[in-house]
This record gives sequence, C-alpha cells and structure tokens, in this order.
Amino acid sequence: MTRYFKGLVVRESGSRPAVAELRLPEVGPGQVRVRIRAAGVCHSDLSMLNGTIRAPYPLVLGHEAAGEVVEAGRGVTRAEVGDRVVLNWQPACRNCWFCGRAEPWLCSTSSGIAALENGITLDNAPVHVGLGLGAFAQQVVAPENALIRVPAELDFDRAALLGCGVLTGTGAVRNTAQVAPGESVVVIGLGGVGLAVVAAARAAGASDVIAVDVTEAKQGLAEAAGATDFLVSSDALSKEIRVRTAGRGADHAIECVGRAATIRAAWRATRRGGRVTVVGMGSNDDLVQLSALDIFSSARTLRSSVYGAADPDIEIPRLAADALSGALPLDHLITDRIELTEVPEAFDKMARGEGARSVVQF
Ligand code: APR
Ligand code: ZN
Repeated sequence: MTRYFKGLVVRESGSRPAVAELRLPEVGPGQVRVRIRAAGVCHSDLSMLNGTIRAPYPLVLGHEAAGEVVEAGRGVTRAEVGDRVVLNWQPACRNCWFCGRAEPWLCSTSSGIAALENGITLDNAPVHVGLGLGAFAQQVVAPENALIRVPAELDFDRAALLGCGVLTGTGAVRNTAQVAPGESVVVIGLGGVGLAVVAAARAAGASDVIAVDVTEAKQGLAEAAGATDFLVSSDALSKEIRVRTAGRGADHAIECVGRAATIRAAWRATRRGGRVTVVGMGSNDDLVQLSALDIFSSARTLRSSVYGAADPDIEIPRLAADALSGALPLDHLITDRIELTEVPEAFDKMARGEGARSVVQF
C-alpha cells in the first residue's frame, strides 16, 4: 500500500527548506515504519543545508528523532507495533572489520551521509535523506537495526535528543576523553552537543568545567548544565584558562563547534600532556595549523569522537534510564518546541548561535 506523508524538503543547495508531500515506500522484510513524534535540529543538518558538508538534492534532513513503530515488516524481531523508539542514524552492520573490533561507530557499511536507501520519492523522483534517516517528516521507513526501544514513560522530546546530541556529547566525555574525577575540562561551543558535554563532564566528577562560547547569552544555559565557569571566546582565551588552572592549562578540552580555529583554541587550552577531543564536524577545506615542534613537545593527545564512540544499542537504553531517574537532566537542553514549518527559523537561530536545541513536535 502506498502512503503519502509530509516532510521538509531542501530542493537545491542554498534553497530554503519547505514542507512537501512525499511518498513512502512499502515496508520490506526487516524494515519498519515509524511515526516520528519528535526530532531535534542538530548542527549537522545545518552543515548539510549550508554546504559545509556536501549533500545531494533534493534532500530531507533530520537525524535526531524518536517515534512510535506503526508497521513492522516480515521477520522483524527488534520491535513491535506500538513500541517507543529512538532512531540510530548510523546502525552498525555487526559484520565488518570495525564491528568485529567492537567499534560499531566506525562501521564501514552503515548508511553514512545522505543514503538513498529509504526509497522515498517526491514528484515520482527519489529523495535523498540526510544521515540516512530524513526525520523531518511525519513518517520514515528504516531498517530494524536503526531502532532502539525506550520506555514509554520517557517523553518523545527527550528521547529524540538521545539519538544524536546527547549520545555524542556524553560519549565524547566518557568513551573518548575518559574524563576522570578531579580533572579540569574546557568545553568550546555550547549548542545541544556542547551542553550535553558540560553535563556529562560534571557527572564524571570533573572539578572544573569551563564553558566557552562567543556571547554572554550562553552563560545561563552553561550554568544550568553544570559549568563551574564561563568565558567568552577571544584571543586571550588560553591565557584566561591558564589563570584558572594553576598556570598549566586544562586536563581536557572538548571542541563542539567544528572549525579549525576552535580546534586550535582547544589545543591551546590544554596543559602539557592534555587531551583534546574533537566532536564538531567541520569542513574538508578548513585546515588546522599546529607546529611539528609543538605537537612533539606539548605531548598532547588529539582525538575525534564520532557519534560518541559508543554502541548506541547499549548506551541509548542506559541514557534513557538515566533521563528517567533524573541522573541525566535534559530539560535545559530544549530551548524551543516547534512545528515542522518552523525548522527554517530554527536553522536561522542556530546560525546566529542562539538557544540550545529546537525540537520539532509532531
Ligand atoms: N568559539 C566558541 N563557540 C563558538 C564559536 C567559537 N569561535 N563559534 C561558534 N560557537 C558556538 C555557537 O555560538 C553555538 O553555541 O558553538 C555552538 C554550536 O552549537 P550548535 O550550532 O547548536 O551545534 P550542535 O548541534 O551543538 O553541534 C555542534 O557537533 O555534531 C557536531 O555537526 C555538529 O559541528 C557540530 C557540533
Ligand atoms: Zn546530529
């Protein structure tokens, strides 16, 4: 049976996204149809929209989502109709070399950016879906391994955030940086991802969490997330951080912007032997300059954290339990609850660096 539904489509590079009627394919074996109930607006969507990351068109964005299973194809065992689920935008194959090494976030066969596999069409032509999901839409068809069941008590808004920003932020702290009690952490960029990093760093026992953004406007959000200190980004940033870290620099700096300049600022914010974790997804032609001598003599470690270096099948249920128990407060991350038609304005706000997460409610 063919079904029509509404989704937010970007027709061509640089054009404003607009709601259009899309056709959903039939649900095949091993696939499910999910009615999206909440979808967060993440900077990776904006990066595909504004060309920072190349994407094919027409395109349906949205990859941080939760919903309800409304149809299950033949052989589906992971979920039943009526289940509440978080969608994983990079479901692992569990067969490749990386999955065999228990590094499913690096899976070499997973959908990746803008896969066509969903078979959605617009005016009878295929539509691409950003990060394999295309969740700025009333419904999606997804492989069952993209589903992670969460308790029905967890509201859809918070559940959606677990699918990207919160998993990415908490995973960066726990799995990549491995922040230990008593350590100092600088967090650069306080959007949905950076604020999740701030909260996770405090939860990991960091004694000092120095939050950094371009304007004072983020100070309240940073403090609500658990930051002990707030600084406005400037050329004097590394000096100001040294003042607060006994002249040494921080044990960790976690970059949540996705630009060479802020990766360099993160590098300079850390002490000798410190750890720099890059969470932001930047562009291919934005080059980071570091001197060979500095790399050697500073003895720092620079690592990136892809999708929280986490196994979402294991960590999303844990995060859901923590959200329900109150151990992981997420309410402060949601600054706007919007409708699908308001996503373009949410992107404008994000580009201006305002607010934290806007969540589309369906
Ligand atoms: N210094 C400090 N903060 C900055 C700077 C800068 N030079 N430039 C931008 N920022 C801040 C913005 O003001 C904003 O608060 O970084 C924040 C980015 O937040 P969002 O746009 O909401 O992005 P978010 O969804 O949190 O994603 C952050 O992680 O997953 C990646 O692709 C994603 O690269 C993006 C990053
Ligand atoms: Zn994202």
